[in-house]
Amino acid sequence: MQIIIYDNAQQVAVNAAKWVQSLIKEKATPVLGLATGNTPIRLYQELVAQYQAGNCSFANVTSFNLDEYHKINEKNPQSYRSFMQENLFKHVDIEKAKTFLPTCQQDQNPREQGLAYEEKIKQAGGIDLQILGIGANGHIGFNEPTSSLTSRTRIKTLTQQTLTDNSRLFADDEVQPTTAMTMGIATIMEARYILLMATGKGKAQAVKDMITGSVSANCPASILQMHENAVILLDKAAASMLDDHNYYQWADQQNRKLNQEFGFYHNF
Ligand code: GLP
Repeated sequence: MQIIIYDNAQQVAVNAAKWVQSLIKEKATPVLGLATGNTPIRLYQELVAQYQAGNCSFANVTSFNLDEYHKINEKNPQSYRSFMQENLFKHVDIEKAKTFLPTCQQDQNPREQGLAYEEKIKQAGGIDLQILGIGANGHIGFNEPTSSLTSRTRIKTLTQQTLTDNSRLFADDEVQPTTAMTMGIATIMEARYILLMATGKGKAQAVKDMITGSVSANCPASILQMHENAVILLDKAAASMLDDHNYYQWADQQNRKLNQEFGFYHNF
């Protein structure tokens, strides 16, 4: 894993946006994996600003979101479709027909929907760059602790901790869904690059477990230790429980020098 520690959340977002821009400029038909939650909001704001400044276009982008609540109408303001619309899609030139979320409506079979989502990703050529946040319990997407490390897109029951963490987003008269469709861990691991962002003290323990703990279904994000191209962008608060802080910063400086010498290395 490449671990990069920035002073604050804004720097995390600006640097994550550089990765996304680099992908969408270099590939003719880029495929982006997208995430919801608080963490990526600044990234999306930065991408919108770059788009408005004429520095990038999403016209050729196909996107696949990590997850979506089960049986939620896309027009519901709590749906992840609405979240993406409000925070990114409506501000840029992405084509709605090329934006996908793992939906499952009342009359649909979650298993069939999951398989169909996997197939769609395959048909698009696979995900080039997957954006991830991390739950306070180490979840990625909605792959809660104990999720199989070889899981595929499917329905998951959310843990009490995730429900409590996300309850701030629901008004008293709104029903908070307790199940969701999510890309599986194996689905996420097939992305060519992973860009995980974590900010704030509340993520420090999960970040420590992900980076220095054993690979375990109890901390689904720890599987990223097995990914060839996982880049972890942290602010100081999220990195505060890591022992090897100095090494990560020194290694990052060396990587920058290598980048200057050999060019920004990636292989989308
Ligand atoms: C949510 C999402 C995840 C997200 C995580 C952290 O429940 N399913 O994709 O990464 O929880 O969210 P936040 O960035 O708001 O802390």
